[in-house]
Amino acid sequence: MDKLIIKKSMNLSGEVMISGAKNAALPIICAGILTKNTLKLTNVPHLKDIQTLMALLQQLGVTVKFSNSQMEITADNIHNTVAPYELVKQMRASILVLGPLLARFGEAKVSLPGGCAIGARPVDIHIRGLEAMGAEIKIEHGYIVAKAHKLKGAKITMETVTVTGTENLLMAASLADGVTILENCALEPEVTDLANCLVSMGAKIDGIGTGTLTIHGVLELHEAHHEIISDRIEAGTYMIAAAITQGNVTLKNLNTNIMGSVIDSLKLSGAEIKLDGTNLNIQMRNKPHHVNVSTAPYPDFPTDMQAQYMVLNTIAEGISTITENIFENRYMHVSELVRMGAKININGNVATITGVPYLTGAKVMATDLRASASLVLAGLVANGETLIDRIYHLDRGYENMEAKLIKLGANISRVT
Ligand code: UD1
Repeated sequence: MDKLIIKKSMNLSGEVMISGAKNAALPIICAGILTKNTLKLTNVPHLKDIQTLMALLQQLGVTVKFSNSQMEITADNIHNTVAPYELVKQMRASILVLGPLLARFGEAKVSLPGGCAIGARPVDIHIRGLEAMGAEIKIEHGYIVAKAHKLKGAKITMETVTVTGTENLLMAASLADGVTILENCALEPEVTDLANCLVSMGAKIDGIGTGTLTIHGVLELHEAHHEIISDRIEAGTYMIAAAITQGNVTLKNLNTNIMGSVIDSLKLSGAEIKLDGTNLNIQMRNKPHHVNVSTAPYPDFPTDMQAQYMVLNTIAEGISTITENIFENRYMHVSELVRMGAKININGNVATITGVPYLTGAKVMATDLRASASLVLAGLVANGETLIDRIYHLDRGYENMEAKLIKLGANISRVT
């Protein structure tokens, strides 16, 4: 199993190309199931999660071609509507095939994802939404078994803001009979990117970018070309790398308008941030100030940046709090950061962090994707050497992370 060795690497500097967004690419690839014609995508990141989804689509009978960040998806020969446990357990986002399969073929059998390292993560809102559109859904032998002769438009108010829930129902509604009104939709830019892609495929969607989406179902969708937006979580991770190492880094190929409150939180820590078209420069001249952070749906601070921001607070002056409001168990990185010398106390969903002058390198273990990223960041500022085990989590969501960090001057290597 691969491991990462990181030695203290201050003053990162230079340019880093931001890849396409994993969380936009995953639903948009699934949107390819909605049509028999070819969906062409550009700016698709090369990630383990994308490979897992390709394997899932291929075993449904979809033809998927992928090279140089370009993907072609042709679902003209689907012979199977089952998403098996073996693939779904590798990646929860596999649930995103449920809406498209049901809408186009009237049936789908998708393994229930189950809990994961960061929380229980139910999919009840996906299921209730599809039922409101006329689907008959049973849970059998660990699978969601869904049938619908033809989905029908409905008014659906989602009781919690859910990203993949909004995406599943949006895709299903695109081919439903009549009008669907989705209320309390997630505002995440990745949902907007999916909606824009669906529109280019011929879907009729009003209210894109707002909390209420109105979808006039159409009989079929057609071929399209769509460019995936950039990965704001990857971008935010490199911004923290620059801030904690007192570096000067320019992010390239970034949709700078989708960074939400991450930019503000980093400015509060003392970072100087300049935006110029698709470039973002971040420079940190001194040690960061601590900043209290509370996670919430977009445009507020993303839960997917919580672990990374915590690293900044561990070496900042003073005492700060981080409050996790989205997932109930998203502090798996804390015990590993404490092993590196951080002072963190957890009380319920609030972490209180007392800044220390420095962290110290240690052998640590990655537990989930963003927790892994936080350990890499901690390794950059820790005295001595940090060895991170189980980095396959990192490969799920960061394209060429070591190469990108090495280009910025980091001392990091992968050992097998
Ligand atoms: C997506 C992102 C993930 C991010 C998360 C929150 C993808 C592929 N993944 O995950 O990186 O951390 O949004 O921004 O885009 N909930 C329910 N019932 C449901 C669905 C969700 O109770 O049917 C709850 C969840 O347990 C959680 C909250 O709603 O507490 C938000 O979760 P959700 O937005 O659905 O997360 P994902 O879409 O799984």
